[in-house]
Amino acid sequence: MTEIIPIAADHAGYALKQRLVTELRRLGYEPRDLGTNSAESTDYPAYAHDVAAQVETGAARRGILSCGTGLGMSYAANRHRGVRAAVAWNDEVARLAREHNDANVLVLPARFVSEAEAVTILRTWLETSFEGGRHARRVAAIDEVAE
Ligand code: RB5
Repeated sequence: MTEIIPIAADHAGYALKQRLVTELRRLGYEPRDLGTNSAESTDYPAYAHDVAAQVETGAARRGILSCGTGLGMSYAANRHRGVRAAVAWNDEVARLAREHNDANVLVLPARFVSEAEAVTILRTWLETSFEGGRHARRVAAIDEVAE
């Protein structure tokens, strides 16, 4: 079955998100585009929460976000239980975010990567598996916080 991947961006990430939607289709995924739908200024948290909620509830296994730095989106997405949103600015970071951190949301800093770099980062993140082992213990410990 085709994997549905929710994807969203604010105005700073809009153009890149359009490019990534095309790339996801080309790779055989079904992107679920949750906006924004233009380069008009908008607030990033709502988009981050929409994508992260899909991962949190299990409606999707993983999701993709983009804003200018990637930071605001990651802050908001990481408030969701079970979501591990990683800002990846190069291929190596994307690979390690999967292998070591089991990142289930990829956040792209649109003002700091080219579209070509972002496509490479996307492909690496999509194709790299979590290593498990000692990393599984560490990832599990992320949720060990006092309520
Ligand atoms: C928008 O100007 C910018 O603040 C936003 O895209 C993002 O970088 C926030 O973290």
